[in-house]
Amino acid sequence: MDALFPFGFPEPTRFYLALYVATLVLHVVFMHYVLAGTAFLAGRGLLARLGIDTERPAYLLREWMPLMLSAAITAGIAPLLFVQIVYQERFYTANLLLFNRWMAILPTLLIGFYMLYLLKVNADVLKRPLIRQAIRVLTFVCFAFVAWSWTENHLLSVQSLGVWTEHYASGALMFKTPELAPRLALWFCGSFPTLAAWLAWQIRLTATDDEHREIDHPSVARLLAGIGLVGLLSAALCAAAYYAMLGDAERELMTGPPAGPWFIIAIVGAVIQSAGWIVIWKQNALPRGLLLIVSIALLVTLCGTAVVREAIRLARVDITTLYNAHTQAAAVSGLGAFVFFLVVNTALMLFCIRLVRTKVESRGTRV
Ligand code: HEM
Repeated sequence: MDALFPFGFPEPTRFYLALYVATLVLHVVFMHYVLAGTAFLAGRGLLARLGIDTERPAYLLREWMPLMLSAAITAGIAPLLFVQIVYQERFYTANLLLFNRWMAILPTLLIGFYMLYLLKVNADVLKRPLIRQAIRVLTFVCFAFVAWSWTENHLLSVQSLGVWTEHYASGALMFKTPELAPRLALWFCGSFPTLAAWLAWQIRLTATDDEHREIDHPSVARLLAGIGLVGLLSAALCAAAYYAMLGDAERELMTGPPAGPWFIIAIVGAVIQSAGWIVIWKQNALPRGLLLIVSIALLVTLCGTAVVREAIRLARVDITTLYNAHTQAAAVSGLGAFVFFLVVNTALMLFCIRLVRTKVESRGTRV
């Protein structure tokens, strides 16, 4: 594997790996909103004690969260399909070994989903501060549990047969490994810069005409810059801790020809994001051009990180043994149907967005 990811693989493997990583990034963009957004809602009491006004972002989060959770779940389906094509029994084996603990994701997601609606309801009993805070915390716990489950499942899926056998024989419900904490912490901290960018756009684009005249949004610019910067800094610390834990094979792939350039662009993206948030902090404003730069840099970081994540897995899994299976999968027709539905569904989504935009604009609210 000397070529840049995903070029160093036979055509079918390259195709599936590229689609897997691209669709995973899409899942991450929405999943980050849910994970960091529910953490923000659970922790906003602490910010209030520091005298920070969180009303506007909190309102947007409550309103948008059910939709964004649906998007995160829906966007999870495509990588779920591709990961099974690319890694085959590795994914299923981890699912089966974790069994009840893995299946607990489903009821947890249902409870989390329901909690999101409770956050929006204005019933008297739910207005009591203690109950409201309990709902906020429980909501976050649900999604943190789901994130933990995906990380645990992933780490188990890349183990050797010996570790799987040992895990099965022990009858353990959970798979414990020192890698879990820094990896999960990295996902958690890394979700805040994404949340900050999402909220900045939502605040800009959903401002009413009156608010929009005051285009700087000084009431929230520093809060969002703070969220972005703290997230980037803490994610960098977690990444360093995680890197220190990895073996030579993983580091070689991450920094060598296949993923090294991706690693560099991930870091460059993070540096540009940090610079962007610092300027936003200094200007105490959310200018469109700057937000655009921060958002592009964010996407670059997410893509680079997703490839580096894959390089760590590829250092542990001998993908050459799966080349034949990929070739067979590619020989099963269906690409035509896939492209057809991709085009139709994209067109339908764009139509729906346009429809909502036109209706809301005609009611006098900017979208
Ligand atoms: C809000 C709920 C969810 C959260 C917080 C969440 C979180 C995560 C996290 C943290 C990872 C990365 C694991 C790692 O690399 O260590 C991940 C990966 C993934 N998630 Fe989600 N997820 C959620 C819902 C879903 C759902 C419902 C699906 C499927 C429909 C899904 C599909 C995937 C897939 C396929 C991966 C990659 C797995 C792999 O490569 O091993 N996620 N998710």
